[in-house]
Amino acid sequence: MRSSPPHLPCTSLVVLFLSVATVCFAADPYVFFDWTVSYLTASPLGTRQQVIGINGLFPGPILNVTTNWNVVVNVKNNLDEPLLLTWNGIQHRKNSWQDGVLGTNCPIPSGWNWTYEFQVKDQIGSFFYFPSTNFQRAAGGYGGIIINNRDIIPVPFLLPDGDVTLFISDWYTKSHKKLRKDVESKIDFGDPDGILINGFGPFPFSSEVASKGFPYGTINVEPGRTYRFRVHNSGIATTLNFRIQNHNLLLVETEGSYTVQQNYTNMDIHVGQSFSFLVTMDQSGSNDYYIVASTRFTKTPSSSAKATGVAILHYSSSQGPASGPLPDPPNELDTSFSMNQARSIRLNVSAGAARPNPQGSFKYGQITVTDVYVIVNRPPEKIDGWLRATLNGISYLPPSTPLKLAQQYNISGVYKLDFPKRPMNRHPKVDTSVMNGTYKGFMEIIFQNSDTIVKSYHLDGYAFFVVGMDFGLWTENSRSLYNKGDGVARSTTQVFPGAWTAILVYLDNAGMWNLRIDNLASWYLGQEVYLNVVNPEIDTSENSIPQNTIYCGRLSPLQRDQSQRVNFSGSARSILATSRGILLVLFAILISTLAR
Ligand SMILES: *[C@@H]1O[C@H](CO)[C@@H](O)[C@H](O)[C@H]1NC(C)=O
Ligand SMILES: *[C@@H]1O[C@H](CO)[C@@H](O)[C@H](O)[C@H]1NC(C)=O
Ligand SMILES: *[C@@H]1O[C@H](CO)[C@@H](O)[C@H](O)[C@H]1NC(C)=O
Ligand SMILES: *[C@@H]1O[C@H](CO)[C@@H](O)[C@H](O)[C@H]1NC(C)=O
Ligand SMILES: *[C@@H]1O[C@H](CO)[C@@H](O)[C@H](O)[C@H]1NC(C)=O
Ligand SMILES: *[C@@H]1O[C@H](CO)[C@@H](O)[C@H](O)[C@H]1NC(C)=O
Ligand SMILES: *[C@@H]1O[C@H](CO)[C@@H](O)[C@H](O)[C@H]1NC(C)=O
Repeated sequence: MRSSPPHLPCTSLVVLFLSVATVCFAADPYVFFDWTVSYLTASPLGTRQQVIGINGLFPGPILNVTTNWNVVVNVKNNLDEPLLLTWNGIQHRKNSWQDGVLGTNCPIPSGWNWTYEFQVKDQIGSFFYFPSTNFQRAAGGYGGIIINNRDIIPVPFLLPDGDVTLFISDWYTKSHKKLRKDVESKIDFGDPDGILINGFGPFPFSSEVASKGFPYGTINVEPGRTYRFRVHNSGIATTLNFRIQNHNLLLVETEGSYTVQQNYTNMDIHVGQSFSFLVTMDQSGSNDYYIVASTRFTKTPSSSAKATGVAILHYSSSQGPASGPLPDPPNELDTSFSMNQARSIRLNVSAGAARPNPQGSFKYGQITVTDVYVIVNRPPEKIDGWLRATLNGISYLPPSTPLKLAQQYNISGVYKLDFPKRPMNRHPKVDTSVMNGTYKGFMEIIFQNSDTIVKSYHLDGYAFFVVGMDFGLWTENSRSLYNKGDGVARSTTQVFPGAWTAILVYLDNAGMWNLRIDNLASWYLGQEVYLNVVNPEIDTSENSIPQNTIYCGRLSPLQRDQSQRVNFSGSARSILATSRGILLVLFAILISTLAR
């Protein structure tokens, strides 16, 4: 069988039309950003509270880049606690050093800055970043990542007339510090106080909400035009149903995969997931329309005003406000509707990928699996007096020395490569146990959710194929249900309560990669593990340790205090350097030569 893996480095497809440009195009461009992360005051639900913003923005700026670009983000931590930003869905080929989670990086101390540098490679689509530690995502700190195609790579739909990023999220008026304290002592911090859309509370769609006078979000559109809506669930716990009154959502992409294009009237978006829809402004446009995100599977019915996020779709031709009831949500408690919808999302195997081969050219269904893991999550429980949550009976304890640094410096005793392939019949424990992957192996992971709420599992460093999900216990026979042809490749998948989801992943990206439940309380209580993938032969399969590495834990003696304190001006500095810069210089020389 000859099928090419989706991530081989591309060397041969540089298109040249000017010899003078050769040097410039051969090097991939660099873009630079200065970001200051700090608290801002906002009142999205009427209560003044501290939120986390970037360069004064909540949500933060959109990282809008093109595949193959080198991205340099100098992050200044102006919070009063350590910070790490992680880049959800960005694969960081060969470079888990930039992943921004506690297993790979020491957190950036308060008052310090640290520069991430990574290349976005072999990916096109919609992703987002967020703070990965200390429960900070509950206060914001997130923003969009758009990876555009290079010109030589076709996209399987016409260029839309506009590009809209929407963050939908559950929201609590308690601070992230109070929430994380609650999580340490209680199993449940209850249903959210509201749902935000791009950091705003709901439009006054009912008299109850109207009395509160929240500021709300508005998206301006032109009649007849088609827009790409990139919708991310950046919340901490709650599945949200997304819909736009009287408008179809044509699903085209999710987390970097082009899907079979299908219309939906609504979509369940689970914590940490990202979708792109094309929405055509095909209504009369004589008034505005509701954009809705409402809770799914929560205790409080989603029909309650409190639990519904509403923004406004405003046609330029509009004469009046949105009116009528909100568009109907799916049946409140019907998880089978949601599962069937998830199964209907499939890869368009003939569409091109980040490189000019079809997405379906990697025939994952024909590859022999080398390792099988069945990972079971259970509800939180007391372990040695502490409230913890486990995967296969182990609650992950982050060591003070990041795993990746311990590996680099040969420090033993920080972690063990002994994460069990099946749940063990033994007492749950707190430990630093890591999955041992085989470089270029093909891993099957079955997530079995023994909890009563939907969980989102996320794997850093990879896109995996979602091949099956069903209610009940997974057995070997469940494999007969797998989709072996056009399962969608993504980095975040839901697992319904009392159900399983199976994924397949080709371990071609060496590094130390976080596998976690993205629901923040689960993650905080220990439902995460790392997947160690080492190439035993060639060490160029991983980037070397960055020069600006921050040291902590057992390596703290290597760290010097950060003497050079920086203050960014507050606005983003974004320079597209290298090729365009050089090209402009050459162009200027050419013009001045001609002018003589
Ligand atoms: C992203 O940048 C490209 C140019 O590189 C531009 O054409 C596009 O409009 C930008 N998109 C957004 C959403 O800002
Ligand atoms: C902090 O920012 C300064 C100024 O931009 C930069 O020179 C330095 O390299 C940054 N420090 C780190 C550790 O990235
Ligand atoms: C799949 O992608 C191809 C190639 O771009 C496109 O022509 C086709 O319409 C897409 N099919 C569906 C069902 O989305
Ligand atoms: C999706 O719905 C729009 C109308 O909103 C229609 O024009 C289009 O043909 C539909 N596309 C598909 C693939 O069903
Ligand atoms: C760690 O061990 C490897 C293999 O034994 C060796 O090549 C490497 O130099 C060691 N690294 C350090 C920092 O001691
Ligand atoms: C981890 O996996 C590699 C490759 O499969 C193997 O060589 C190594 O012995 C394993 N290590 C442990 C501790 O199991
Ligand atoms: C940065 O700002 C702080 C507080 O505003 C100030 O004390 C410090 O002198 C400034 N540092 C530089 C290098 O401008």
